[in-house]
Amino acid sequence: MRIFSGIRPTGGLHIGNYLGAIKQWIALQEKNECVFCIVDLHAITTPYEPKELQKNILEATAIYLAAGIDPEKSIIFVQSEVKEHAELAWLLGTITPMGELSRMTQFKEKSKQHKDYINAGLFNYPVLMAADILLYKSQAVPVGKDQEQHVELARTIAKKFNLNFGKIFPEPETILPKVGAKIMSLTDPKKKMSKSDDPKSCISLFDSPEDIQKKIMSAETDSGKEIIYNVTKKPGISNLLTIYSLLTDKSTQELEKQFKGKGYGDFKKALAKVLIDYLEPFRRKQKELQTRDVYVKDILNKGASRARIIAQSTMQEVREKMGLI
Ligand code: AMP
Ligand code: TRP
Repeated sequence: MRIFSGIRPTGGLHIGNYLGAIKQWIALQEKNECVFCIVDLHAITTPYEPKELQKNILEATAIYLAAGIDPEKSIIFVQSEVKEHAELAWLLGTITPMGELSRMTQFKEKSKQHKDYINAGLFNYPVLMAADILLYKSQAVPVGKDQEQHVELARTIAKKFNLNFGKIFPEPETILPKVGAKIMSLTDPKKKMSKSDDPKSCISLFDSPEDIQKKIMSAETDSGKEIIYNVTKKPGISNLLTIYSLLTDKSTQELEKQFKGKGYGDFKKALAKVLIDYLEPFRRKQKELQTRDVYVKDILNKGASRARIIAQSTMQEVREKMGLI
């Protein structure tokens, strides 16, 4: 299968991004043709600092590599370096109903969050995302739960294109992780973990051991004192159990047994240790890659060249079908 996914280089990628999206990619790259993109054109739809963008792109690449994405197996590249993304987005915009775009939850949330930055790019964001996916004729898209609606819109756009102009696009499916599709905030376990929230609510992949310890120890827990997985009654502890379970490959039932009779404090201390150990290679790799800019840029250049070949061939077909040639 051809697989496509992307992450915005907005700085401070967190364990929600990793457990919801990137962790799945590692397994998928073994048996599929994977294209992983650093979607800088998406990142500029919300307020950002131009000087920080390059740093964030290299940081996101370091995360991909540290997590185990292999540039020999998968294509890793930066979206704006393959111009066909923007071109296809324009063309697909002409067949995307405004009504569909107005329904998008992420647009509504982000417009509320950045009231004086509601731009046409933010509104058209899902069209660009559909272009990303369809440009590579991708069949599946591994993402967290919050992106499911956007992938469904990409399906709708693919269907409409095929119907209007002739079939060229597969209808892409979402791949959601069975567990961890929505990691919740540490300070408010009813909300998803998000990098735009309070830093205390979220563990960044490059957080220092001290910060991890502090954030986990002060994470919101529930009344009672037993370590039990129950999302409605104990959303805080259940979220922490989910994180623990994903990092250790132990089921939440096994963890309930392991921590029977122990209090929240003991459990949190153990989780902080698991997280610190798990994230150690990320911190190490980031430090190492910070001194190897040339190597990282070379990976991105090679990735873009490989991506361009596929993108240009799809665009040739799209232009022909739409009567532009
Ligand atoms: P973003 O940071 O919005 O570009 O998200 C990148 C990827 O991480 C997407 O596949 C999201 O669905 C996923 N993601 C973001 N936040 C979470 C979360 N709290 N839990 C699980 N997955 C997430
Ligand atoms: N919109 C995604 C997010 O916010 C990032 C993204 C852009 C993406 N293009 C994509 C994800 C294509 C999957 C496929 O997380």
